[in-house]
Amino acid sequence: MLACLLIGILLAGCGSFWDVMPQGKEEDALSDAEEDLIVVGFSQLGSESVWRTANSESIQGTLTRENGFFLEFNNARQKQDNQIKAIRGFISQRVDYIVFSPVTEEGWETVLQEAKDAGIPVILVDRKASVDESLYTTWVGSDMRKEGENAGIWLEEYLRQTGRSDEEINIVVLQGTIGSSSQIGRTEGFDAIAGAHPNWHILQQEPADFTTAKGKEVMEQFLRKYPNIDVVVSQNDDMTFGVLQAMDEKGITTGVNGDVILISFDAVREALEMVAQGVINVDVECNPVQGEYIADILYRLENNEMVEKENCVKEQIFTPENVGEYLDTRTY
Ligand code: AHR
Repeated sequence: MLACLLIGILLAGCGSFWDVMPQGKEEDALSDAEEDLIVVGFSQLGSESVWRTANSESIQGTLTRENGFFLEFNNARQKQDNQIKAIRGFISQRVDYIVFSPVTEEGWETVLQEAKDAGIPVILVDRKASVDESLYTTWVGSDMRKEGENAGIWLEEYLRQTGRSDEEINIVVLQGTIGSSSQIGRTEGFDAIAGAHPNWHILQQEPADFTTAKGKEVMEQFLRKYPNIDVVVSQNDDMTFGVLQAMDEKGITTGVNGDVILISFDAVREALEMVAQGVINVDVECNPVQGEYIADILYRLENNEMVEKENCVKEQIFTPENVGEYLDTRTY
């Protein structure tokens, strides 16, 4: 009788367990094998651009269960406070690693010290944080200063080839999120080259937040203010799309046979098509496909192997002359 009673209680217990599991959650319950997954908390800074979407997809598509990861993804919607909240959440969940792309460089000391005190390694992605090196394990991303320099070096060469080296050249710059590594690096790099040319005049540099809507708005202001712009430097492709809308409305053409030289950054597919058509003169690549670099670093850290403090992704520049070879394989 006692045995029957016990079996009855156990069956009742099982029944009530499955009854309270939400539909489809059975698969989500961690099995013994899944408990070995590397748990990663990832704070993405937002979804402002085509580049950012490609970056999120690369990381989400690589840090998968099949590859041995359990990924907790958080979108901070451009707010540093949201990123700090997410990182604190990851610390209290005791994740194995924190990966994050800092929206701007300043203001991370306190939360990164908390991660360090909790013994959780931090990996910075894409942009940098201006903190003591002991507060993070490693960084993966682009050499933004080099990107800015490459844009300037390309312009030097283009003006030389078109016989305009000695002309007065008026330049306007649409900048990305102020205080972000991409804005700081690209501005410093381009300015360094421009500084060597007394006939290059940077009329104005204005933030346009890396978005198409703001890019259009800022370009409209520039066009109202400056009747004689020779070069537009737009620090990402999304802003460039806004620039082109503003130019189009005024009947101004850009690119190889246009009125204004147009320099862009990122090299997403839609922009590369415009390079191929000669509408954008040059697109300096910023490579968002960083998932595999991060996975490789995480595997190495799991094996107690050394990792470099800085890991730059591979990048190049695209002009109408070389873009054709890359268009077919561009996935974003
Ligand atoms: O930090 C990388 C930059 O951020 C990309 O150039 C831009 O498109 C994104 O929003």
